[in-house]
Amino acid sequence: MPDASTVLDHATQERLVAAAKSAAGRAYAPYSNFQVGAALLLSDGQIIEGANIENASYPAGICAERSAAAIAINQGRRDFVAIAVIGPPAEPITPCGICRQFLSEFNKAMPVLCCGRDGSVKVTTLAALLPGAFDQEQLEQAG
Ligand code: THU
Repeated sequence: MPDASTVLDHATQERLVAAAKSAAGRAYAPYSNFQVGAALLLSDGQIIEGANIENASYPAGICAERSAAAIAINQGRRDFVAIAVIGPPAEPITPCGICRQFLSEFNKAMPVLCCGRDGSVKVTTLAALLPGAFDQEQLEQAG
């Protein structure tokens, strides 16, 4: 795992983690009681927050990471630089497989800050979390 300071400056990392925590406070997770917050850093320093939104029809729910990405894209922003994610556990959580694939569409090399409530941050990248992501190139190989 790379040290966080080699990926983002300390102040930016702090801002991103604080934003992910703030987003988690808006989660709608009455079924799992597992509130997740994500914060997506854009190239101009703007941060877009997203939380998980569950549903009585369980598969209809959406994760915090895709929630944040959907907001950004609908604001005309696809310039994803990094993402932070936090849940209730003391230990860092990692994005689920669907979110890894979803985010890899926009920046495969994106640093991912996996945060824990104990203040720990594990920095990795989407490429490390999802080697061999399915992509547009493979679609194009169909001819
Ligand atoms: N969840 C996220 O929002 N992000 C993740 O990376 C892991 C899981 C949500 C989905 C569901 O609402 C709850 O956490 C329990 O799985």
